[in-house]
Amino acid sequence: MYDKNSPVGVIDSGIGGFSVARQVQRLLPGENLLYLGDGAHIPYGNHSEKTIVAMARYMFRFMQRRQVKALLVACNTISCVVEQCVEEVSCPCFNAVQAGADAVSGLDVEKVGVISTVFTHNSRCYPRQIRARSPKKLVILSCGCPDLARLVEHSLGDPQGMAQVEDNLRQELDQMVLVDNIQCCVLGCTHYPLVVDSIRKIYPDLPLIDPAEQMARELKEYLDREGLRRDAGSPGRLDIFTTGDVKEYALRARQVGLERLGSVAFYPPMEL
Ligand code: DGL
Repeated sequence: MYDKNSPVGVIDSGIGGFSVARQVQRLLPGENLLYLGDGAHIPYGNHSEKTIVAMARYMFRFMQRRQVKALLVACNTISCVVEQCVEEVSCPCFNAVQAGADAVSGLDVEKVGVISTVFTHNSRCYPRQIRARSPKKLVILSCGCPDLARLVEHSLGDPQGMAQVEDNLRQELDQMVLVDNIQCCVLGCTHYPLVVDSIRKIYPDLPLIDPAEQMARELKEYLDREGLRRDAGSPGRLDIFTTGDVKEYALRARQVGLERLGSVAFYPPMEL
C-alpha cells in the first residue's frame, strides 16, 4: 500500500513524459518521481489498440509493484485506452487527455485544434472529452501526425534533426492554423511541448495548451486534499527507467531541464 512518502509514477511511450515530469517538479518540488519510458516500443501512436493496451498494462504493473501514490498517464495515446488499464493499479490515475480537455473547458474559444498521434486522432478521444465538458458548441479540428513524436524523441539538440521537426510541424499544422484559423491548439502528445519553442517560432500568435500544466495542478489538488504530500525534509528526486537507451534518456532529461536526477536505469521491455 502507498503512503505520503511513496513516489508519484509517470509513464510514457518515450521521453515525451519528461514534459509532464518537468511541470510536476516545478509545482511539487518536494515529491519523488518515478518515470518509465518505453523506448523499445516508441512510437505507440502507430500501433494497434490491442498492442497499446498490452504495453500500457505492462507499465502500469511496473508502477503497482513500486507502490506509487498516484500515476500520471502522461502519454496521450495511452490515455485514450486508460479504462482498459486502470485495474492494474490501486492508486488514482491522472491522464493527459482528461487534463487537456479540462484545460480547454476554461477557455473562451469557439474553434479548437488538437495535434496528436495518429492513434489519438483516430480514437476521437479529445473531441469526445472536450465536448463532454463544454456547454457551448465548439468546432474541434484534429490532426494525427505519424512521424512527429519519433522525430522529437531523437532530435533535441541536433540542428539537422530540429530542422526536420520544424518541416514536419509546418506540414501537419499549416492547414489548421493558417487556413482553418483555429483559436488555440492542444498539444495532444507529450513530445510536442518539448519543442514548444519551435512551435512558437513558426506560429507566434497561436495560443498553445499543454495538458502537462493541468495534470500537475490536478495532482497537487489531489495530494493536498488527501493529505498525501511527502514529508519533504529534502527536495524530491527523479528516478528514470527506460526499456530503451539509458545514455540517451540521461542526456534528454538534462536537455529538457529536469532536475534532481537520481538515477537512470534499464528495464526489460515487454516482448511483443
Ligand atoms: N508521447 C505519446 C503521446 O502523448 C505518444 C508518442 C508515440 O509513442 O507515438 O501520445
